[in-house]
Amino acid sequence: MASHKILLEGQEFEYQCEEGDTLLRAALRAGLGFPYECNSGGCGSCKFELLDGEIDNLWEDAPGRSARDVRKGKMLGCQCVPKNDCTIKVRLEHHSTPEHKPSRLEAELVQINTLTDDMQEFCFRTEHAANFLPGQFALLDFPGVTGSRGYSMSNLPNAEGLWNFIIKNMPEGKATSYLFDDCAIGTKIHLDGPYGLAFLKPEISRDIVLIGGGSGLSPIMSIARAAVNDSRLGDRKIYMFYGGRGPDDICTPALVSNEEALDKRLICFNAISDPEMNKEGVWGGDCCFIHELVAKQLGESLPEHEFYFCGPPPMTDATTRMLMMEYKVPFEQIHYDRFY
Ligand SMILES: Cc1cc2nc3c(=O)[nH]c(=O)nc-3n(C[C@H](O)[C@H](O)[C@H](O)COP(=O)(O)OP(=O)(O)OC[C@H]3O[C@@H](n4cnc5c(N)ncnc54)[C@H](O)[C@@H]3O)c2cc1C
Ligand code: FES
Repeated sequence: MASHKILLEGQEFEYQCEEGDTLLRAALRAGLGFPYECNSGGCGSCKFELLDGEIDNLWEDAPGRSARDVRKGKMLGCQCVPKNDCTIKVRLEHHSTPEHKPSRLEAELVQINTLTDDMQEFCFRTEHAANFLPGQFALLDFPGVTGSRGYSMSNLPNAEGLWNFIIKNMPEGKATSYLFDDCAIGTKIHLDGPYGLAFLKPEISRDIVLIGGGSGLSPIMSIARAAVNDSRLGDRKIYMFYGGRGPDDICTPALVSNEEALDKRLICFNAISDPEMNKEGVWGGDCCFIHELVAKQLGESLPEHEFYFCGPPPMTDATTRMLMMEYKVPFEQIHYDRFY
């Protein structure tokens, strides 16, 4: 396969980018800390300047690139594929350096578990081991769907090559329509990973707070599974907060009680956010946004904890704001993925 040489201006590094690969993914495959967060065009963390060479921009209107970025000639590394050798300007970051270099794999759908009316766990198998850190995600490509979609693993790394993803069906969503309506057991797709920086840091000696909203359950389950099985965390409290819109969304009690280690160790809280969905009164618990429940339960002790959370941007933004502005939690104690 043809490849192009990418030179990083002002730094001693260069790397090869295979035909069709993006500048960001190829840099991470080479073990370089190209800055990023979503790898999906949404966050704008992967901006760079093209000094020489030509690129194809996969998604001109990606929300992560503002009109100001366009004026200043800034582009997104996760959406740009080089057409020839290029020189780019980007500041590498140590914390983006991958522990497991991502690779492109073929994955076969081997099992589907239904969790709620609109959430299922899709289990794929690859020929090689599933090497990732709990909390990371993979990029999946589906036939007929433009652009890769990020999905976080819900299971633990394993030698059997199993990659499980809890996925929420989105109305009119292209990838989720394919997954929920057309993807049968035995279907093969392309999986690229692992990616992501919001993974469990077991060496940190603080109690752990996991927070998931809606589709953000998947990485929270993976981190919870890793945390309860890690002997270094034996004396740590591990809280899991999960919020949905209505009572039918709250699937965590069943998931947790199914696994002895989770059931024994996790301290679980749930909330629903839409009282209209509880007209029959089946929900007797808290009715609020999930970050509000975190504050209600842990209050002034919040700065003593390490936080991992995932979900749609309004949920992650509200949680970050509350932790940092109201409770003065240092940013280094907050690890999150926004699901654009
Ligand atoms: C890091 C990360 C982890 C995620 N983990 C999960 C998870 O575990 N579970 C879960 O349910 N969801 C997760 N998501 C959300 C998921 O990636 C999808 O956005 C969601 O499933 C809706 O996809 P859709 O195609 O059905 O909807 P659509 O509305 O068809 O597409 C929505 C998304 O597709 C992308 N997109 C749209 N057009 C293009 C284009 N032309 N080129 C490239 N990309 C395009 C954008 O990111 C957009 O937000 C995650 C997202 C990110 C960024
Ligand atoms: S990493 Fe490229 S826009 Fe988020």
